[in-house]
Amino acid sequence: MKNFTNKVAVITGAGSGMGRYLAILLAQAGANIAACEINKTTLAETVAMLADYPVKASSHILDVADKTAIEALPAKVIAEHGCVDLVFNNAGVTVDSTFEDLSESDWDWVFNINLQAVINSSRAFLPHLKQRPEAALINTSSIFGMIALERQSVYHTAKFAVRGFTECLAKEMKDSTVQIHCVHPGHIGTNIVTNARMNKSEESASSMERLVGKVMGLGDSQEELAKFFRENGMHASRASEVILNGVRKKRSRIMVGTDAKLMDLAQRLTPMHYEKLFPLFTLPLTLFRNKKPIKGMPVEEASPLPEKA
Ligand SMILES: NC(=O)c1ccc[n+]([C@@H]2O[C@H](COP(=O)([O-])OP(=O)(O)OC[C@H]3O[C@@H](n4cnc5c(N)ncnc54)[C@H](O)[C@@H]3O)[C@@H](O)[C@H]2O)c1
Repeated sequence: MKNFTNKVAVITGAGSGMGRYLAILLAQAGANIAACEINKTTLAETVAMLADYPVKASSHILDVADKTAIEALPAKVIAEHGCVDLVFNNAGVTVDSTFEDLSESDWDWVFNINLQAVINSSRAFLPHLKQRPEAALINTSSIFGMIALERQSVYHTAKFAVRGFTECLAKEMKDSTVQIHCVHPGHIGTNIVTNARMNKSEESASSMERLVGKVMGLGDSQEELAKFFRENGMHASRASEVILNGVRKKRSRIMVGTDAKLMDLAQRLTPMHYEKLFPLFTLPLTLFRNKKPIKGMPVEEASPLPEKA
């Protein structure tokens, strides 16, 4: 797909981070947007940002974990826009916990949003995408769909599965008009840690602390970790631009960030001990990566931490 002019793009998790900037960049490129998000306030903010562009934007409050709502979504989007050309299954969450401390409800929360929703949405939209002269389905996995660290068992389980599912689909759809993409971001400075559930025990560092925290003198409150994460990743507008370029160039596997590429290389070189190589590059990359938005892009405010139950 060489350009996005007059295309209709569905984006889940459009209220923050990569979902929000995908919506803005696609609108800038002339695409009409169906923005989907569970958070009413952030969804409205994104839709307001799209008003700067001469495209149509529809707003859909959606919990991707709700299978019935996902099944009803194609008809709603088609009623607003007439067709669907691109679907970005981007919404995602995480929980930081050892498997033993992880409740079944937290497991289901991540698993249903990060994997089951991707499958349900792919099933719901594929028949409509296949009717278009050119179309694309873009499922977001992670570099954590290629390597595994402690305290991310359910995130890894979901993201490895998104990769397996999407790569299989890419082979099955290779003779169709639908491009299938799997996205593997490294560290992108978004609200994902703010929105995460943390299950921290005294003696066990969070996943973030393991990667960079000790050396950077990072504190251990969720607020500090979330701030550090937001401020030290690749800017989400830049990550979204990489994703869209991957779609333009028909790359079935879209790696986002040098950290993702090096982590992938490390796991190929030493499949059982790759994490020992990470300190060689995660800290330098954290210090020197481009954390500024693309020129002209709005700057996203930090989300407040969710209230604890
Ligand atoms: N930020 C990173 O470093 C990183 C790295 C690898 C992969 N990812 C993946 O990228 C995707 C986007 O994440 P992000 O970093 O932009 O995070 P983010 O937290 O900034 O944005 C995620 C959005 O999804 C929404 N969302 C959460 N649950 C939802 C639900 N049930 N229904 C609908 N929307 C829901 C959130 O409200 C939020 O607006 C996720 O799939 C994430 O797992 C992120």
